[in-house]
Amino acid sequence: MPAIVLVGTQWGDEGKGKATDLLGGSVDYVVKFNGGNNAGHTVVIEDQTYALHLLPSGILTPGVIPVIGNGVVVDLGVLIEELDALEARGVDTSHLRISANAHVIPPYNRVLDKVTERFLGQRRLGTTGRGIGPTYADKMSRVGIRVQDLYDQSILRQKIEASLQVKNQVLLKIYNRRAVEVDEVLAELLLHAERIRPMVTDTGLCLNQALDAGKTVLFEAGQATLLDVDHGTYPFVTSSNATSGGACTGSGVAPTRIDRVIGILKAYSTRVGEGLFPTELHDDSGEFLRKTGAEYGTTTGRPRRCGWLDTVVGRYARRVNGLTDVVLTKLDVLTGLETVPICVAYDVQGTKHEEMPVNQSDVHHAKPIYEELPGWREDISACRSFEELPANAQAYVLRVEELIGTRISAIGVGPGRTETIQRFGLLGD
Ligand code: GDP
Ligand code: IMO
Ligand code: MG
Repeated sequence: MPAIVLVGTQWGDEGKGKATDLLGGSVDYVVKFNGGNNAGHTVVIEDQTYALHLLPSGILTPGVIPVIGNGVVVDLGVLIEELDALEARGVDTSHLRISANAHVIPPYNRVLDKVTERFLGQRRLGTTGRGIGPTYADKMSRVGIRVQDLYDQSILRQKIEASLQVKNQVLLKIYNRRAVEVDEVLAELLLHAERIRPMVTDTGLCLNQALDAGKTVLFEAGQATLLDVDHGTYPFVTSSNATSGGACTGSGVAPTRIDRVIGILKAYSTRVGEGLFPTELHDDSGEFLRKTGAEYGTTTGRPRRCGWLDTVVGRYARRVNGLTDVVLTKLDVLTGLETVPICVAYDVQGTKHEEMPVNQSDVHHAKPIYEELPGWREDISACRSFEELPANAQAYVLRVEELIGTRISAIGVGPGRTETIQRFGLLGD
């Protein structure tokens, strides 16, 4: 029975939440394995719109067991807010499981994230300000606080004290901010500890046992390939592994157990925050994509930077993640264009690159080489089979498939759960 990883192939916001929700009915577990409440997934089910940040999108499907894996960083206050908001709307959240090894985001890391960005000025990364970077840095520096520490108060106090010895120096002496009290941090972290205690468990064991019992497990990435700390456009990345390998380290399920990797590819590109973006548009076409695609951040409300589809990025995502399937989302947004440009390669100072240049300065100088495909004017949002799409839209999909080198198994033609064309089975059928 399959273990399936679902990843973003670009800079995030490709429609991972909708794709997870779509698969929800066919899987038993949905695992968030990286990131935290920097993610923002919008899921539309009939007339209801849900915005999820920390919880896996699978929580919306009755019967699915949602799991927060060890690779996630958890803001406990946000977790409780999200759970309460969903419960108030009639969503049963009682099956949530949280890894005892997941790290928590202490309040001082939210402060540090924001003040560091301000301090960087022009050189800022454009983070979401949620404390993600400092919390992963603490994890790697071995001064982080884990969910299991909440249940041993003397250990918790010791860890906070040790952390604050350094953090308070930084806050006071570098950023001219007030020092943080140990008791203040303890109080915030313990506020909801008892409420979540029944959910805290060895999620790695639980997922392996589920796979042994023939259950289907879906691993849902936050962020995306080019925001991955190792494989993305460093340093303009998030601080976790958002690529398929992260599903293993972030959950305790081994690579030998993964059967399929689904890449979510938006029919054009967007990026929130700073960093390179070869196909970015600064003209009316960019505005068209932003308006038509409603490209404003789910988490921070920031307008997303927009550009044409970049298949150099797509091929890179195929390689890094080992994609078996692609879900092409938001094809409907391209309706009405005279021609639809696809970036097929980069021109870097006279040299053609079909693969992502390893040297980032080259990517900075990359000029996209476009292929122009004829557009279509027909409304495609009611299409439910590939054959119903206008001929030019079909040709566009087939060309993208050829350029990425991975079959396009589903196509999004609108935000709603049912606004999807299924071409091939995503679960390997
Ligand atoms: P995620 O972070 O990858 O889950 O993506 P977001 O939820 O941040 O952004 C994707 C947005 O596009 C959401 O508002 C979705 O409701 C919407 N969406 C997803 N698929 C489609 C599609 O095929 N067509 C259209 N028009 N909207 C879509
Ligand atoms: P989903 O899961 C788009 C971006 C931020 C910033 C950089 C680092 O919805 O696709 P961080 O707060 O993580 O330290 O910020 O990463 N970023 C995202 N961009 N979608 C996301 O998530 C993102 N999560 C982080 O804008 O540029
Ligand atoms: Mg998003």
